[in-house]
Amino acid sequence: MPAGFWGGWVLTLTVLSVVGLAWFVFSLYFGGGGNQGGGEDEGPVWDGDLREGAHPAPMWWFWMTLAALVFSAIYLMLYPGLGSYAGALRWTEGGRLAASQAAWNTEFAEARAAIAAAPLDELQADPKLMAAAGGLFGRHCAACHGADAGGQANLFPNLTDAEWQWGGDAAAIERTIREGRVAVMVGWGAVLGQDGVAAVTDYVRELPNGVPAEHPGKTRYEQFCVACHGADGAGQPLLGAPSLANDISLYGDGEALVESIRDGRGGEMPAFGERLDDSQIRLLVAWLTRSESS
Ligand code: HEC
Ligand code: HEC
Repeated sequence: MPAGFWGGWVLTLTVLSVVGLAWFVFSLYFGGGGNQGGGEDEGPVWDGDLREGAHPAPMWWFWMTLAALVFSAIYLMLYPGLGSYAGALRWTEGGRLAASQAAWNTEFAEARAAIAAAPLDELQADPKLMAAAGGLFGRHCAACHGADAGGQANLFPNLTDAEWQWGGDAAAIERTIREGRVAVMVGWGAVLGQDGVAAVTDYVRELPNGVPAEHPGKTRYEQFCVACHGADGAGQPLLGAPSLANDISLYGDGEALVESIRDGRGGEMPAFGERLDDSQIRLLVAWLTRSESS
């Protein structure tokens, strides 16, 4: 069935029933029928002496019906109701939704802009905002970094410890979240050979205690690793090269450390710049840099 047919059908029915009701009510009151002129003697008699009579309906009832009819007519002219006629106001559910969405956006745009521009310590001092930030982290980040941001499975770094391989200041963390990070360390197994890997691994294990003066792995470390991890193993945040000079290790000690050096590592942090808006990113930065987590 073409939509036009049903539109016309509904329109005809609606108009007919409104006009019909109007005609009926008018004829009842002013049609000169039995309603006005009747007397006590007309109509059936019940139970011996009970007469229905023919009292005219009260006038307030007429005015109420008239008001309802006028209201219906005006309503049907303004709003959709007459078949496919859209109504003079062009009101639609979709339009209403869009309007309230726009109102919502303007109402909260200011609040969001304020958050995006607020100093971090101000955000950190607001427990409600920090709770919201924790919720954001739970929804977007916890799957990898763990609900408490403590890291997972030696694959996703702990975000509550002192080590930040990409930098721990607010600007660096913001960039990490916005743009994502791709770490690249090629494997050194082919270059170093098995003995070389063992020697350098052992050298790396010594670094937290200070740079060894003499060590079988020293020359190779200084040849191949210093460019990124530094002579003292402090790391290089610009490259995402983690510090090897502390006890914190991303991928784990033991055999994992040998694997890191032999096979390389390529951790990837996805970019959230498209998925989160400025205020959300700001909240996350505030949450990650609040004092209890660093
Ligand atoms: C799909 C898994 C995944 C999700 C989801 C994820 N991350 Fe990451 N994130 C990683 C990995 C893997 C790394 C480590 C990258 C590397 O090895 O350099 C990382 C690194 C980081 C770092 C850098 C840590 C450092 O030491 O410099 C920060 C900060 C971070 N993520 C924050 C977040 C935030 C905030 C969210 C949520 C908006 C998030 N991540 C969501 C996987 C994820
Ligand atoms: C091109 C720069 C670069 C060079 C050269 C380099 N690394 Fe790395 N290294 C990285 C990066 C970046 C990571 C982080 C990988 C990740 O997050 O997935 C890393 C990670 C590591 C890790 C894992 C650290 C942890 O906390 O689990 C170890 C161990 C390591 N490198 C040792 C070495 C050694 C030994 C050499 C020299 C033979 C070396 N690296 C050379 C960039 C480099």
